[in-house]
Amino acid sequence: MKYHYKLKNLPFDFKPFDVMKNDNLEKFKKRNNTEAQTVLEKSFSLDECKIYNKEFIDWIDDNKLELEDIRYFESEPFCSYHLHKDLIGVSNEDIDQVKFNFIFDSFETNMTWYKIRASTKGELYLNSQGYPIYRYLKETCDIIFTTDVNSHCMINSGVIHDLVNGYNNGINRKCYSFAFSKINWNESVERFKEFLN
Ligand SMILES: [Fe+2]
Repeated sequence: MKYHYKLKNLPFDFKPFDVMKNDNLEKFKKRNNTEAQTVLEKSFSLDECKIYNKEFIDWIDDNKLELEDIRYFESEPFCSYHLHKDLIGVSNEDIDQVKFNFIFDSFETNMTWYKIRASTKGELYLNSQGYPIYRYLKETCDIIFTTDVNSHCMINSGVIHDLVNGYNNGINRKCYSFAFSKINWNESVERFKEFLN
């Protein structure tokens, strides 16, 4: 199953903006697989996004789409995320989560999706907000699909996946991530087909 499509010919241009602004960055820093790897992660509001991306927000409204999570991620070169689902909760079931990711300054990042083997399960831990989620070991999963994720895309982040940066020209990768609610993966592929590559 393919859980990634590049976005093309969207009727708006997503414009990157400074989500972190005057924030104390320490507050939003997360460690990844090793101490050397850091991700900045911050939720932001639709209203803030609208200042810079009115056309996109209008498009969301016009299409009667609903968002459940809006988040900015900035990851360092060679950063790699462990295997996880973006959804909060501790189930081995795959529950679709459809995201539009608008990606900037990304040159050699790959994402791989996995299927967990029967009779194994994830390891419980608390995410940055203190919610319980599972993370998974590669050894207990089989690869479904791998792709580069260096440009705007639609993904299913409800299925186990990782994210692995390369050197990335020595700069941080930026991702503005919008999770839709009330729409599953197959519906999204059909609904947005004119924008998928
Ligand atoms: Fe993720």
